[in-house]
Order: sequence, then structure tokens, then C-alpha cells
Amino acid sequence: MEIPASSNERSIFNLRQRWFASCFSVLTPVYQGMLGQEKQKLFEDFRTSFPHRDDDGLENVPLFLEVGPGPGTNFKYYPTSPCNLIVIDPNLKFKPQVMENLKKFPHINLIGFYETGIEGVSRFVKDNSVSIVIGTDVGCSVPDVKAYYDNVLKVLRPGGKFYYIEHIRAEEGSMLRFKQRVFKKWWEFHGCGCQLDRDLDKQIKTAGFSGVDQTTFYLDMSQISWYYKTFVFGIVPRHVRGIATK
Ligand SMILES: C[S@@+](CC[C@H](N)C(=O)[O-])C[C@H]1O[C@@H](n2cnc3c(N)ncnc32)[C@H](O)[C@@H]1O
Repeated sequence: MEIPASSNERSIFNLRQRWFASCFSVLTPVYQGMLGQEKQKLFEDFRTSFPHRDDDGLENVPLFLEVGPGPGTNFKYYPTSPCNLIVIDPNLKFKPQVMENLKKFPHINLIGFYETGIEGVSRFVKDNSVSIVIGTDVGCSVPDVKAYYDNVLKVLRPGGKFYYIEHIRAEEGSMLRFKQRVFKKWWEFHGCGCQLDRDLDKQIKTAGFSGVDQTTFYLDMSQISWYYKTFVFGIVPRHVRGIATK
């Protein structure tokens, strides 16, 4: 969602952000429980690829950018060696949880938390400066998917990597796709603009990365209640995880 300029729109925007942050925080333990194994697989090589050493054997502290971290569910998958981190999120309601969460990971050195969507990243992050960009479940909410990937590419250094997870549109003609059509507006309202029907798995392939390595998967809902299955995660079980290289 874009941050509105007028004060009336800003108050509505703030209320929706607060509502979304509260709902998302309640759902996070259940959702992260289902995503845990997939996140382990996604971040496997990321955990072991640092620290980088230059030609003289000196350690370089890499710069990471996390886009839309929500409450900070990905920090536990970061490498255990030191890194510098910039965070951007248009929803500041998540900031206290991010700051609290970061206390558990003292090797992650937060150098900036900026209230902006990816659209405004250039105001805070230099082009070609970031080793790793992380964005999980963000592409569904950005105002312009092409601009999202363009901005990620802009800040990544050559060879830098973008780690992502997204829920994606169900297959056309399926019962699930029908359900997504029915719930679309309801979901968008409660999800602060979240879109159920984006083909992010296809769009990233034509975004200009030199390589995209991705896997489609479905949430394992065997352990969750009928309520969550019907009204929440059962609407977005189809996901993709991947690593795109600049
Ligand atoms: C569904 S939550 C995902 C949170 C977290 N990444 C996770 O996987 O648990 C979506 C996040 O994207 C943020 N967001 C929404 N629009 C955005 C934009 N245009 N640019 C960057 N982040 C955005 C939201 O504020 C929220 O933090």
C-alpha cells in the first residue's frame, strides 16, 4: 500500500495498518508454524554463505535489506555472523515487535528502520550496495509488482541475491480459484491491500534477474483448526519460495 498524503486518508490508512498488524501478529505463530520447513530450505545456503572474506582474508560485514518484515519473522534464519541491516516498512505498527525481536540477535546490526514502501527505497539505500534483499509475503501488497522488482534490482550489488516467499494465485478453473474470487475484496480489506490473485512466480522470471531458482509448494494445513482452514490459510495455500540473483 502507498502511504497517502492527505490527513484524512492518512487517519484511515493508520487504522487499517493497526488492524492488519494486530490480525497478522495473532496469525503469525500458526502461519510461521506451517512455513517453518520451507523457510529452512529457502535460507539454508544463506546461513552458511557468510562471512565473506576479501582477497586479504579480511572479513566483510555484508549489508542486508529486509522489505516489509512485519513483526520480524525472518531474523532467526539470518547467518549467525555479523551483518548490517536496513529495514523498510510502510507500517510502523510493526516496529516495536521488530525492535523487541532483534534483541535476540545481537549480531544483526540495525542501521536504519525507515517508514516507506519499496517505492521509496532509493531515498535511504544506495544503488548497488546491498548483498541480500529479503522479502517474504510482500509482493502481494505492493502497489506495483514491476516497480518492486526494479527497486530490488537497483539496490542489489551485482551478484547479490533476493530471497522471497509469496502466496500466489490458484490454478485457473480450480475450486480454490473460485474461493479466491469470492474472498478477494474481504481479504484485500482486512489484509491492508493484500491481493489474492498475483502471478508473482511468473512475474519474477521476467523481472530482469540473471537467474531465478524457485519452488512452488502448498501449506501443510493438517495441524490447523477448521476455522483457519476455511477462512484464512485455506484461501492462500499455494506458495512459491525462491532466490533471484542480480
Ligand atoms: C503479510 S506481511 C509479511 C511480513 C513478513 N515479511 C513475514 O513474512 O512474516 C506484509 C508486510 O509487507 C509490508 N508492506 C506492505 N506494502 C509494502 C510496500 N509497498 N513496500 C514494502 N513493504 C510493504 C507490510 O507492512 C507488512 O509488513
